[in-house]
Amino acid sequence: MTMEKKIVWTKKDLLGLEYLSKEEIEHILYTAQGFKEVTTRQIKKVPALRGKTVVNLFYEPSTRTRTSFEIAAKRLSADVVNIAVEASSVKKGETLIDTGRNIEALKIDIIVVRHNCSGAPNILARSVGASVVNAGDGWHEHPTQALLDMFTLKSKLGRIEGLNVSIIGDIAHSRVARSNIWGLTKLGAKVTVCAPKMLIPEGIEKMGARITDKLDEALEGADAINVLRMQFERDGALAFPSKLEYFKQYGITADKLKKCKKGIVVMHPGPINRGIEISSEVADGANSVILEQVTNGIAVRMAVLYLVAHAKKETR
Ligand code: CP
Repeated sequence: MTMEKKIVWTKKDLLGLEYLSKEEIEHILYTAQGFKEVTTRQIKKVPALRGKTVVNLFYEPSTRTRTSFEIAAKRLSADVVNIAVEASSVKKGETLIDTGRNIEALKIDIIVVRHNCSGAPNILARSVGASVVNAGDGWHEHPTQALLDMFTLKSKLGRIEGLNVSIIGDIAHSRVARSNIWGLTKLGAKVTVCAPKMLIPEGIEKMGARITDKLDEALEGADAINVLRMQFERDGALAFPSKLEYFKQYGITADKLKKCKKGIVVMHPGPINRGIEISSEVADGANSVILEQVTNGIAVRMAVLYLVAHAKKETR
């Protein structure tokens, strides 16, 4: 896979793909390609962030994102602090801004934040001088997930431009869907979103995606599908009569995959609800790149941490 170096990086924060240009997105993917090589070495460590401190501040649960940000920071030789929000002064009512400013007073360099409120990382970035990286905010964006999805897609199919990519599932509650739509359309892919009508948010077509509530239409001609989790914690299941019914109509099964383009790439950001949005046979099958996505998350997050930490001073 070749990825072209395009630009000098000038952004101190990564808040969403909505705010990045095509060239900036390509530059992150290019930088990640270099770090991917580091992750294959026997000693998977470079001194690129030696002397820097990264704080993981997660207000919502996470397995993949939090762990891979920690591994990414450590592979760049940064010091890493994980704040357990449940055991922090957030529980005593401390605001996000006060928490951010107090963490910054400890002379740290980057805050990686996940929050249940859309826009929380933007508020934090305006309140602190440290770099802020969005690790998923409400229904808004999950930029590093979309970046690792695109990195994986480009690794598998050699390009993004011109690909037909269908995002299938709980679009309404999905920050992954929004970041993927922004990123994929900027890089020239044709994006279709597919969900039951109740799970398609109003106005999403303005982001440049084709919309359908028919799975057949989303699968036909698709080079890749990104299957999204039904977000039970955000009332996703209320939009459908039963999990069984959802699986029957929208679940990705081996039988449905047989009718698709040969070599279709199957992605899922995780965690998976097996037997609801995807069968185990497909999730663990030959077309699935789900675990490659997780692996690629480290190189992509190394790239993001490296770039925001070394952003040109004039925009800081
Ligand atoms: N894809 C993703 O964000 O997974 P986690 O919630 O486990 O971080």
